[in-house]
Amino acid sequence: MNLQQNSKTNVMVSSRSMSTLSTFENVLKEQQNIDLVTHHLVNGTVDPLKGVTAVPDLLIMELGSDWQQELAAVSSRPAHARPAIIAVSTEDNTRIMRTAMQAGVRDFFTHPLPVQELLESVNTLANEAYMNDANHNGQVTAIINAKGGSGASFITANVGDILSSAMQHKTALFDLDLQFGTLPLYLDLNPEYTLLDALDVTDELDGIALEGFMSKHHSGLHVLSSMSDNLGMPWEIPEANMAYILDIAKQQYQNIIVDLPRQIDPLTSCIIEHADIVFIVIQQSLTHLRDARRLMQILTNEIGMPTNQIKIIINRYNEKNAITLSDIKQTIKNDDMFTIQNDYKRVSESINSGQPLREIAKSAAITDSLNRIAYQITGNHNMESHGVLRKAVSYLFN
Ligand SMILES: Nc1ncnc2c1ncn2[C@@H]1O[C@H](COP(=O)(O)OP(=O)(O)OP(=O)(O)O)[C@@H](O)[C@H]1O
Ligand SMILES: [Mg+2]
Repeated sequence: MNLQQNSKTNVMVSSRSMSTLSTFENVLKEQQNIDLVTHHLVNGTVDPLKGVTAVPDLLIMELGSDWQQELAAVSSRPAHARPAIIAVSTEDNTRIMRTAMQAGVRDFFTHPLPVQELLESVNTLANEAYMNDANHNGQVTAIINAKGGSGASFITANVGDILSSAMQHKTALFDLDLQFGTLPLYLDLNPEYTLLDALDVTDELDGIALEGFMSKHHSGLHVLSSMSDNLGMPWEIPEANMAYILDIAKQQYQNIIVDLPRQIDPLTSCIIEHADIVFIVIQQSLTHLRDARRLMQILTNEIGMPTNQIKIIINRYNEKNAITLSDIKQTIKNDDMFTIQNDYKRVSESINSGQPLREIAKSAAITDSLNRIAYQITGNHNMESHGVLRKAVSYLFN
């Protein structure tokens, strides 16, 4: 069982103003993928990294009246000791911006800060730093339905799209439904190669070669599909080869999301053993509940998955249904629940056109529910569209 979560990105915020530092702390504290330190610049210090022994992956520096010397100080550092930099200025001044860009600053913001854009920029640079770290270890998420047709594949395709396009995480989807895989269909892809092709050449496989077997979606998402003329049987695939491909993928991607068929065999067990999170997708019916409870028992008792790594998704959720959320919590004995609206019209349009929901219904409630699952996977809870938080934070920055 892989209990190791994504390693964190070290972010330092430097400023002469204590209130700016505490505001940044408030904004970034929910970002579980970030370790934040603040550096209060005092007196005549112009180098925000002066005396800093552990150079951060990302520096957010607020420029003061000595902005020229401050930028010169960071740009004069040797490349290996220079973090990615976001500069923040009180003045909307083209000269400052140009000098900052020449000093290698990756992004530039002026007060009042656009909080959402700032968070997106921090996450993009944090993702880059994560991928540049030679020791990074991607996170594996398995999505499995408790009953056929619950919506696991649709959710996998859409969460993958959100991770790639909105969150800019380098993400791969693995379709483990060897006989009835639907991921390429939901994303309008025509796979040239499949998982079985990759498994055939495991001995020669490295990260770059593995990417060659993936179908590329325009969102940046990579999909290792399973459907081929050569019908694969799970028991024909050596688990060791599957484990090896997962290990390579963890070096190559930040997130690997696996669409698992509802059957526990050596192959699916191997994926679950490697998974950091397993989502079980159910709908509100007694048979779903019975099967979800059974699946939970198999995952925890037989495969040894810790309960806190298992989350439940109630798809096509209807609050008027006789089976309530608390009934489900009690029956399955799991409090970690996500709900996804029943939205036949938008889901059908998405599937029929092969366009993810984010492309055709970005602001719909169902898309927001899928965003929440992506946030759960990445730990970026602050990116949630909490209007209240955004308003509070922009007020603080104004
Ligand atoms: N939230 C939703 N609202 C409305 N319809 C949905 C929703 N989610 C899924 N569906 C419908 O359910 C069908 C089955 O979804 P999907 O293929 O994702 O299920 P699955 O759990 O992967 O099934 P399988 O057992 O075949 O692998 C889809 O074709 C879609 O029409
Ligand atoms: Mg499916």
